[in-house]
Amino acid sequence: MPRLSAATRHRVGFTLNGKPVSVEAEPRLLATDALRHDIGATGTHVGCEHGVCGACTILIDGAPARACLTLAVQLEGREVTTVEGLAPAQDRLSVLQAAFRRHHALQCGFCTAGILISLDAFLREQPEPSEQELREVVGGHLCRCTGYTPIIAAAVEAAALLRRESQTIAQTIALESLDV
Ligand code: FES
Ligand code: FES
Repeated sequence: MPRLSAATRHRVGFTLNGKPVSVEAEPRLLATDALRHDIGATGTHVGCEHGVCGACTILIDGAPARACLTLAVQLEGREVTTVEGLAPAQDRLSVLQAAFRRHHALQCGFCTAGILISLDAFLREQPEPSEQELREVVGGHLCRCTGYTPIIAAAVEAAALLRRESQTIAQTIALESLDV
């Protein structure tokens, strides 16, 4: 592991939502501050700053991580996804985001970015989640507004829609391979 000087800024390069970025970071700089203040990706929120509330959750190489417990220098060479990277296009919401909208699964929205990131990662791994499993994922996030019920309803609906979407894609590929 390279030794970093505490007094020096180090160039840290990583991929953010599919695009290469870099920041000049002191070793103590948090990933949350690098993302929000140096890069301007303010979708990642900061609540407790000690790993409890989940507001700052991002994906690092596809795995959810608390950005407030991550140093910016730890992002070197990694693939980072923040809430800004979940939508398929600037004018389109992801299936999960659209379900949140339909179910009014956010009020102030402070917790929402982190919850979307955790659920997005979980639904990729577990396309047929039980409601209890979804509750456990969301249980890692503090939401003071919604009472969680609409969040779970949105997640259940999104899981069903994503399953249907992947079945349709699989059927299309099968038909194309038969050349019909
Ligand atoms: S701000 Fe990171 S977990 Fe609360
Ligand atoms: S919507 Fe306000 S904290 Fe969750």
